[in-house]
Formats: sequence, C-alpha cells, structure tokens
Amino acid sequence: MCGIVGYTGQCDAVETLLNGLKRLEYRGYDSAGIAVTNEQSGLQMLKTAGTVDTLEEKIQREWPTSPDQRFTSGIGHTRWATHGAPSDINAHPHLDGSGHIAVVHNGIIENHKDIHSHLEELGHTFSSETDTEVLAHLIQECYEGELLQAVCAALQKVEGAYGIAVLTDYEPEKLIVARHGSPIVLGVNDNAAMVASDAPALVTFTRRVIYLQDNDVAVVQPNDITIRNVNNVPVRREISHLDWDVTAAQKGGYEHFMLKEIYEQPESLQNTVGGRLDWDLGTAVLAGLNVTPRDIADIQRVILLACGTSLHAGLVGSFYLQDIADIPAQAEQAGEFRYRNPIITTDDLVVAVSQSGETADTLAAVREAKHKGALVSGICNVVGSSIARETERGVYLHAGPEIGVASTKAFTSQVAVMLMLALKMGRCRRLSRRHGDALCRAISTIPEAIQAVVEKDREIAEVAQKFKDLRSCFYIGRGYAYPVALEGALKLKEISYLHAEGYHAAELKHGPIALLQEDVPVVAIMTDMPGKEKTVSNVRECQARYSPVLGVRTEGDEDTADIADYEISLPDVSHYISPITTTVALQLFAYHVARLRGCDIDKPRNLAKSVTVE
Ligand code: F6R
Repeated sequence: MCGIVGYTGQCDAVETLLNGLKRLEYRGYDSAGIAVTNEQSGLQMLKTAGTVDTLEEKIQREWPTSPDQRFTSGIGHTRWATHGAPSDINAHPHLDGSGHIAVVHNGIIENHKDIHSHLEELGHTFSSETDTEVLAHLIQECYEGELLQAVCAALQKVEGAYGIAVLTDYEPEKLIVARHGSPIVLGVNDNAAMVASDAPALVTFTRRVIYLQDNDVAVVQPNDITIRNVNNVPVRREISHLDWDVTAAQKGGYEHFMLKEIYEQPESLQNTVGGRLDWDLGTAVLAGLNVTPRDIADIQRVILLACGTSLHAGLVGSFYLQDIADIPAQAEQAGEFRYRNPIITTDDLVVAVSQSGETADTLAAVREAKHKGALVSGICNVVGSSIARETERGVYLHAGPEIGVASTKAFTSQVAVMLMLALKMGRCRRLSRRHGDALCRAISTIPEAIQAVVEKDREIAEVAQKFKDLRSCFYIGRGYAYPVALEGALKLKEISYLHAEGYHAAELKHGPIALLQEDVPVVAIMTDMPGKEKTVSNVRECQARYSPVLGVRTEGDEDTADIADYEISLPDVSHYISPITTTVALQLFAYHVARLRGCDIDKPRNLAKSVTVE
C-alpha cells in the first residue's frame, strides 16, 4: 500500500529518490520521507506528513544544496497509514535507537507488540506508533558489526508481511532489502542500483530488473547485487526485462492518470485480445492457462476470487462462464473466502482476478484454494506479481501499468480476458463452432467500440454537470448490467466522495426505493440486452418517486428512447461486449463529476493502489 525506493551509486541520491517517490505516489500519499548517507556525513533523514511535494519543499528549505555534501545512497517512502495516523513522526523512514540504521517498510509486522515490549524491557524507547520503528530497533539489537546479518536475524523473529529497505551509515554504499508478502523489485544498472516496491519507480533508471521472491534478502551495492534467503543461503534470481514504455508511467498531457487510462482503453484492450483469437477453430488461445481440453472437460465449477473492481469483473466473468461455457460459476469476495471454510473439490477451477497481483485477501484465498486441491489460476496485470507466481498458470492482461488509484483499464481487460476464457472453455465443451466464430468477431470489435465510447467524452461531461451536486444516488441494472451498476457506483464514490449504491434493478423495490426522492437520482443501465424491458419498468417506478433518471442506453434503440430524464447513448454492440462499453461511459461520468467537484482524482482520500494488508 505504500511505496518504497532506494538508491546507491554515483548520482545525487536525494534527487533520484524524490523522482522515484513521485512515480510511486499512487501507492500512498499521506506522508513521505527519505534517509540518505555518504562516506562522510553520517545518516541524515527528513520526513513529513503530506505528499512528496511537501517533502521536496521541506528538503529545499532544510537541506540547502552544497557541492561538498552530496549523498550517494538512500531510501525513501511514501505512506498509506496502517499503524498510527499520518504525521511527521509516523512517516517513514524510522531510525533505530542509535540513529545509525534507517528502515522503510510496507506491510504489517503482526507480532510488533510482543517485540515492542521485549525491546522496552531491554531499554529501547520509541517515538512513533509504528510497527516499522519496532523493526528498526530490533535490527539494532541484532547488529553485531554487519547489517546483513542483523537484518536476517531480525527478520527471523518477525511475523507478518514485509517489503523493507534498510540503510546504515556504518556501510554507506549498501542497501539491504527483503520481501515477505510485499513486493520488492531491484533495478540493475552500470555502477548504480535502485530498488523499489513497484516497477514504475524504475522505468527511467533501467529496464533490467530482478523481482525478489518471498523470504529473499538482497545486498544491493553499486556494482554488485547478491541475494540469499533469510537463513543466509544464496539463491539465484533471473534478470527480467521491463517492457513498459516510459510514457506509460507519465501523464502524457492528460490532466489525470485516470483520464489517460480511460482514454488508453482502445489500445490496452487491443493488447489484451490481440493474438489471442483462433479464427480457424473459433476459440481463444490462452497459452498461460496451461490446461488441456481434457482438463477443461473435467472442470465442474469455476470460482472467481477477487476484491473491489476486480470482483465486479469476476461477477461479469461468472455470467459469461454460465452463459457461454455452460459451467456453474460464482464470483466470491476474496476477503471472506478462507474464513468460511469453503467447500472446494479437485474438480473446481479457481481463478484469482487481480490487477496488482498483490492484494492480500486475494493472495490468501489463492493459498486456501490451493491447499484444498483446486486447479488454481490467475488473471493479473502486473507481471511477476505474487498472485501470478503463486498460481503458476494464468492469463496476463497486458493492459500496461495502471497508475490511477481508481481502476479503469484493468477492469475492461479483465472482462475481455474472462470473455475469452468462457469462449475457450465453451469450445472445449458444448459451444458450437458457429457460436465460437460469432464470439471471436464480437471480441475483435471491442477496441473500436471503446474508441467510439471515448469519443463521447464531451457529451458525458455535459451530463455530469447536471449531477455534480447530488448527495446520494443509485445505479441499477440487470444481468450483465448488474455488475456494471456496482462498478459505476464504486467509481463515483471513490473519486467524488458522493454516496452511490449499485443495486440489481429488481432489488430496488425490496428496501432502497424508500430513499428515492427528487434529489436522489438513479443511473439506469438499460442498453440493449436481455432484461432491458424490466429495467425500463423499474425506471418508471423511480420516476414515480420523483428521482431524476440518467439512462445509459443503446443508440437507436426505440424501446429506451425518451424514457430517461438524461441519457448517455452508446454504440450498438453484442450484449457480451456491453459490460465493457457501458463501464467505460460510467468511468467517464464519475471522472467528470469528481473533476467538477474539484476532487483530487489521482489521490482520492483514504485510498491507495494495491491493498497488501487484510
Ligand atoms: C477500485 C479499485 C479497487 C481494486 C481492489 C483490488 O477502483 O481499484 O477496488 O480493484 O483493491 O485490487 P487488485 O485488482 O489489484 O487485486
């Protein structure tokens, strides 16, 4: 949830760390800090509540540049608070009691209270409320003249999840980094090395990266990186090539990353579906799934596990699998899955859906499903992420880095992958060649259809103007439009802070209708698909309670013409594609409402990309 960077080399560490932190601000932005060192100056640290810009201003005020005092190694952090409120004191890095060891940390040390009490008995005093400060003192307690040995000894006493970077002025050209449940990636370059919690921080520094695996500890020096496990046994990790375009991690002229990513969807979807349709057999090619037609024939049920937006995509996927592949499918909230003793059999295919591939609840659910013997696969965006590795088989989205905190292009690519999964499974079961061909044709039109939706941006912005002062609203839909209603409402609430609820259109009458009145609008998804007539009846019920209705409908569809008070009309597409087109329209709607309300769209309050704690 927070961002880590580290650097050691010949360049100015302060500047390098600030640049890295700016690229990671989407990971957390309630406080930030850096610790730096060199051969002469000891360990220096500055941190503050607020954003990386606040930190930069503080650095300019308090550390005037001097040619004699250039720092060449350092670590930095941008935080999303878990232990202790956002404040200068709770910001990372945290120092040990001697002031010679600095630590930045992502994750949660679960036994920090026990370690804290033990260290207090030994005379340690603490200034923050964080578990990370406890870890810094524990490393000090284990220090016997070598930082690596101290970090390994400390980590052996720690329970929980961590990605850490540690710096000491005793060994100024060295960073020690380690991971257990929270990602760390190393960037390899000539005469310098960089570390980060996420690859976007490294793209301008190098394309050669090493992803640490759980329990790895790396000693990172300008010309040398060695990796071992916490028991000090050397391990080999491959160098991977980061194939992201540098511009992918920049705004490229857009006002916000979210808008850029909404606009990128024709291309990201092309990357998701491109080369994955087999026109000869009328099926999809998902090589990473690594299942034979015989395996598919044996699968009795598919369970899709995910959180948030990915869960909504999973819900669309469960409808596809039942409709197209004729196989029982259910989407489940990953956060609950392992606590309710799920009934899993070896005939189940479990699919974890996650943009980041690091969501703690989804990862834990994957482990539970594996433990119970299911065939487990992943649909992830981030290559080499924990869920992608843990599942060993799966499908990458190839949507490119998603920096905007509100997920947009990952959702549409997840839905496209699930449609291809249903096609592939369907063709191995009862789906005819003719239906397979029709689906291939529909899938191949997705990028073009999304381009047509994106071109309605200005129109959607005008509609958003009418809704910017609402207090509360409902999104309703049926069938494929139901998960879209959930996702549309989630987008609106997370970036505009307006209360919005997604409901199945049929459920409205079972309670929520009591809330409808003239200042509680309803967004009705009534594009041309099975069930639309019933949604139209529900719209009339809403209007009878004086709720203004925004109808999302299909251009030229007479059944839905002149019904809603406001409308967004979208291109006529197959109902299998409409969850993608309608969601893109609702992403734009939420974006414009938030913009008109002056919200900080790329840094929505209390949110962070990638939830690596339960
Ligand atoms: C909402 C959003 C979150 C994520 C959720 C799961 O816009 O981004 O709801 O979808 O935290 O994240 P991943 O997909 O990384 O597992």
